[in-house]
Amino acid sequence: MLLSHDDRDPVRPSAMLETFPIVKNTYRDYFKVTGENKAAELLRYGKSKPGCISLAQGEGTLPTPEFICRAVNKALEDGKTFYSFGAGHPDLRQEISTYYARIYGVSVPTNRITVTSSGTNAVHLALMSILEDGDEVVAVTPIWKNLIGITELAGGSIKEFSMEEKDGAWTLNLEDLFAVCSAKTKAIMIVTPNNPTGWTMTGADIEKLTEFARLRGIWVIADEVYGRCTHKCARAASFLDYAREDDRLFVINSFSKTWAMTGWRLGWLVMPADAEGKIRDLILYENMGAPTFTQCGAIEALRHGEDFLEFQKKLWAENLDLLLQRLPRLKGVSMSVPPAAFYAFFHVDGCEDSYAMTREMIDEVGLSLCPGAAFGKGLKSYLRLCFAVSPEILTAALDRFEEFLSRR
Ligand SMILES: Cc1ncc(COP(=O)(O)O)c(C=O)c1O
Repeated sequence: MLLSHDDRDPVRPSAMLETFPIVKNTYRDYFKVTGENKAAELLRYGKSKPGCISLAQGEGTLPTPEFICRAVNKALEDGKTFYSFGAGHPDLRQEISTYYARIYGVSVPTNRITVTSSGTNAVHLALMSILEDGDEVVAVTPIWKNLIGITELAGGSIKEFSMEEKDGAWTLNLEDLFAVCSAKTKAIMIVTPNNPTGWTMTGADIEKLTEFARLRGIWVIADEVYGRCTHKCARAASFLDYAREDDRLFVINSFSKTWAMTGWRLGWLVMPADAEGKIRDLILYENMGAPTFTQCGAIEALRHGEDFLEFQKKLWAENLDLLLQRLPRLKGVSMSVPPAAFYAFFHVDGCEDSYAMTREMIDEVGLSLCPGAAFGKGLKSYLRLCFAVSPEILTAALDRFEEFLSRR
């Protein structure tokens, strides 16, 4: 029964509820673990300071290669400005399938591939399609903070499971991971190769995790955005190497890192075949799909992007060498060598609050890095530096970091 304005009784909460339903899911309700995005605020702060070197964000300084941009110019000239297909243009879906066959040696039919408006969007779609309010998602940390935020936005409840750094390497204890999964666990979220550590899961561990999840009916959300950003091999092991078609698996990928296309907001999702309809519907409600003309550029990236990727990998490798020559020499700084991605994630002895240290560094020496605490619990003494920049910028940044530490 709805009450009229006049006979409302403020002392009867149930009546109040009928008249004025309490609005759940406000901003504050969502982000229980993520909290306010202090790292993003610091990133903006660093960028607002004239002369500050910002290596806080996960993107390089190289622009998208010309041959990719040219395809988009042509698409625009050809009038490809209309709505696209919700799940992506069939030619791009086919090209992604061809790419998996060529580079990964795996067969992924087009009905298991959806083009998305970024890797970030792909994660959100995957989670929205499986989560009920309050479902538990076990997130292997350190993890790119936004994945925690996206999970909470999709109604999930995060349980963090931390990797350990020991003897110069990040390690995942699978048995312990399995032990924290309960009947309430709907999904395990894992980033391999990892942002921020560069840690990369072995094929054997991927196989074990896949079997465990299959047995327990748990979803795996595998973020493989850095799958080609490897320093010693052509690609990282993928969940697609071990999964069956009907496994409860979503694999997230993106054009952002591999082909320097961060601003394009283009990615893709590999899903079980029976998820296609649901994901397509979600896309129609979220944004009606990725832009039409940018998908033409994405096809070129997949077809002809290997040389550019090699060029980037050479740059990352040189920069990693530079970092490994300089960082470990600094007193109190230690870092595991990352086998992939383009981040140095290092520990600074005596750092009790990486957010505060980040702000001080911006103010004192004009260098902006990303606070380690943003990547999960127990990481307050870490900082992340993105080294996908020119060696000159990296050298200047390391000079500033050294200067900052010498003042402590
Ligand atoms: C692990 C991981 N996944 C996804 C993304 C975002 O990719 P996209 O630019 O396609 O949204 C990032 C960006 O830093 C990332 O580190």
